[in-house]
Amino acid sequence: MSKEGNYIFQQGHAAQERLDLMQAIYGPYSLHYLKQQNLQGANVLELGCGTGNMTKILLEKVGTKGSVTAMDIASSQIEITKQITGNPPNLHIIVGSVENTLQSLQQQFDLIYIRFLLIHLQNPQDIIMALKPLLKANGRIIIDELILSTMQCEPANVWFDRHLALYLDLYRNQNVDPDFGLKLYSSLHQAGFNVEKIEHIQPCLYTPLHKNLVLLRIRECGLGDAKMYASLEQICQDELTVMTGGIFCHAEAKLP
Ligand SMILES: C[S@@+](CC[C@H](N)C(=O)[O-])C[C@H]1O[C@@H](n2cnc3c(N)ncnc32)[C@H](O)[C@@H]1O
Repeated sequence: MSKEGNYIFQQGHAAQERLDLMQAIYGPYSLHYLKQQNLQGANVLELGCGTGNMTKILLEKVGTKGSVTAMDIASSQIEITKQITGNPPNLHIIVGSVENTLQSLQQQFDLIYIRFLLIHLQNPQDIIMALKPLLKANGRIIIDELILSTMQCEPANVWFDRHLALYLDLYRNQNVDPDFGLKLYSSLHQAGFNVEKIEHIQPCLYTPLHKNLVLLRIRECGLGDAKMYASLEQICQDELTVMTGGIFCHAEAKLP
């Protein structure tokens, strides 16, 4: 078990199943926008690359004449990124937190790509402000971010609601904002960026495979572990067991 930074999830192999499922759910939306960019030969910086699901795609897009510099706080994530991309010579790796490593970058980039990182940072606005000097004159930023409190369940499920309240508390306990995605436009605007496009996408998880994301999340961030909540005194082991059981039944249930 390893966790670095204010990050609430596991990192490395323990994270791979959840991040691969996130890629299956959100990947098509991320790709849709990336496909419209001509990135052949571009130099890309990816922050919080995780286990490399988007790094791999970015490498394909830039081709051998371009490069991807991928940064993550966890060396265990980076190891998987190297494996799944084949660690080509035009992949440059930085292990470190964005807070501590951004200012050491000497290069400017055509594209900065960030997915699902900002909700894990205590000062995401500072990071957005720090991106400007790293962009070339016509450079772009693409950010995909979540608004976690907008998750809903239909038909209503009491255990889903309970898990969501606890899950949001986990973030807030780390002084990070699980709804930072909602603030992206104003945040970029405040940092002086010209915002070309903003979209709000809400995938629907209706298959048992996709609904399993909720259980993977619970397992990985420690919601299945009563110790995680001991300090919050909000849930006891018995209720946790019932909650995960209730969500499991819900995830397995198919629509009529
Ligand atoms: C939810 S994952 C997203 C991974 C990847 N961007 C994707 O979309 O598949 C968030 C990643 O951010 C990394 N991370 C968390 N806090 C960080 C920080 N302060 N600096 C750099 N990386 C960080 C985590 O290790 C994790 O790999």
